[in-house]
Amino acid sequence: EKDPLVVFMPSGKRGRVPKGTPVLSAARRLGVDLDSVCGGRGICSKCQVSFGPGSYPKLGLTVAEDALSPWNAVEARYDEKRGLKPGRRLGCQAEILADVVLDVPPESQVHRQVVRKAATLRDIRMDPATRLYFVEVDAPDMHEPSGDLERLNRALAAQWQIGPVEAPLSLLRRLQPVLRKGGFQITVAVHHAHRGPARLIDLWPGLYEGGLYGLAIDLGSTTVAAHLCDLVTGAVIESAGIMNPQIRFGEDLMSRVSYSMMNPGGDVEMTAAVRGAMDALAGEIAATAGIDPRAVVEAVIVCNPVMHHLLLGIDPVELGQAPFALATSGAMDLACSELDLTRMNPAGRLYLLPCIAGHVGADAAAVALSEAPGEQDELTLIVDVGTNAEILLGDRQGVLACSSPTGPAFEGAQISSGQRAAPGAIEAVRIDPVTKIPRFRVIGCDAWSDEPGFDAAITGICGSGIIEALAEMRMAGILDPSGLIGSAEQVGSDRLRPEGRTQAYVLHEDEDRTITVTQGDIRAIQLAKSALYAGARLLMDTRGADKVDRVVLAGAFGAHISPLHAMVLGMIPDVPLDHVTSAGNAAGTGARIALLNRAARAEIEATVTGIHKIETAIEPRFQEHFVAANAMPHAVDPFPELRK
Ligand code: FES
Repeated sequence: EKDPLVVFMPSGKRGRVPKGTPVLSAARRLGVDLDSVCGGRGICSKCQVSFGPGSYPKLGLTVAEDALSPWNAVEARYDEKRGLKPGRRLGCQAEILADVVLDVPPESQVHRQVVRKAATLRDIRMDPATRLYFVEVDAPDMHEPSGDLERLNRALAAQWQIGPVEAPLSLLRRLQPVLRKGGFQITVAVHHAHRGPARLIDLWPGLYEGGLYGLAIDLGSTTVAAHLCDLVTGAVIESAGIMNPQIRFGEDLMSRVSYSMMNPGGDVEMTAAVRGAMDALAGEIAATAGIDPRAVVEAVIVCNPVMHHLLLGIDPVELGQAPFALATSGAMDLACSELDLTRMNPAGRLYLLPCIAGHVGADAAAVALSEAPGEQDELTLIVDVGTNAEILLGDRQGVLACSSPTGPAFEGAQISSGQRAAPGAIEAVRIDPVTKIPRFRVIGCDAWSDEPGFDAAITGICGSGIIEALAEMRMAGILDPSGLIGSAEQVGSDRLRPEGRTQAYVLHEDEDRTITVTQGDIRAIQLAKSALYAGARLLMDTRGADKVDRVVLAGAFGAHISPLHAMVLGMIPDVPLDHVTSAGNAAGTGARIALLNRAARAEIEATVTGIHKIETAIEPRFQEHFVAANAMPHAVDPFPELRK
């Protein structure tokens, strides 16, 4: 008689196993992803499978009612105490007696796939660094003297083939009472990163049935955003953001570096400010989600190099001057207590992604992890626009990176009526090419300014608004290719008014305020967009490419910018408009991937080492490209897609 055949769905993995093999053992043998926290003791219920007798014509199998062994005492006790859903069996208890088809539901898969909502380049495979293990530890014995930690490690090795774990003093203090309270049965949370030792993070008497959570934090110079993720399902439970309190030391990064240079101890103040904010955010997000901060066992942080140093408590002065040396570009694996984070598990761990270069930070590395340019067949240009533009260009042949000093104009700074993207800001503009009359949309109001229902109090214009305004002015013939505003007679519009020796275009006027686009505003945007374009062109030159296949706009700003307007201004190289996409907060997504999958950490560390870094400041061609990119869209480079 042949051994029974078992087929696991949805993977389709199959094989013959000796009659009487427990389902969990069969799954292990066939490489099927079936979870277990209690190690087969019939108490965690993580190993559940669905069993449905009947015929499976596609598989050519008929499954008998008694293909699995009847409930044993352990399974019966579990059902009595907790209740098993109909058709469900505990994989560690049920034994295979005849040919059988078993379905592994998503909640029983360790490495379940989490489908990303945004640009689904790839799914996240669950493989978090911190996991729970239930263990039975030998009681101490006069005849065989050994410590409780040593016996715990023996048990982990025998029952889970992991460890030995290192235990911080704080947990060592709790180990003995917890072991005794649980009758030498305990659940431990173990952090096992892609490298380094396994570490004990927490322990509970008996079976711990609460969840484990982690934070994916995007630490920006203006805002700090965090997602609280379930480390078992991968779901985002809660998201929150706060302003970076370092703003009071300087709006942009370089002014914070200078604050540190001018004020002894300035870096210490800024470090305390950002750590305090992160700690408050961690506490707030756990409270909103109704989760015990102790269950938050990990955080992954992505940030630019200056924030990276300030968070670590390293004076960033070296990043303010050539050759922009980082204290370290490597990834960091730290205890959260080292960064004064008190509102998560006290033994919790922090992972900082590696930086790419002195100007290209861990945030860009996170974008590279999320967008995976090195896995694309098409040559892809990724721009993350902020005070600095971080630019990646690559495909399977390799990835290049640089950062370009765009300045804060794209964020509405240095613009006469500029402001941050907030309610009251003009965010989109259209100008009638014949009448030269503008209409616009304001953040906080859905109607356009010429539509009924428009009732916004207008306070200024934000980055996407000024970009659209300039591009529309160019398309309406108000601006010439060099960026000069024509006179009222030349343009044929009464919306122009002299301002000094130049002209300004009136976008909006009421009793409270007048919002104009001045020649100075145009100059500021020209400088910013030339820097962006020149950076991209420099990477294309180095790669030997005169065009790219795809452009990805990353970051919050990227989500609001219109591809057409960006291209009319010549912010990005010529490419079919439908090949320009927005990746949303790609850095935040990268942080989430690294949080949920430890192999992704090894992957990005390797990728970053392989990225070819270009330093724009020392490349003479950068200056040439910069000058040529001043015109709109460009002095020499053709933009055939715009003519379509
Ligand atoms: Fe825990 Fe089966 S493995 S109940």
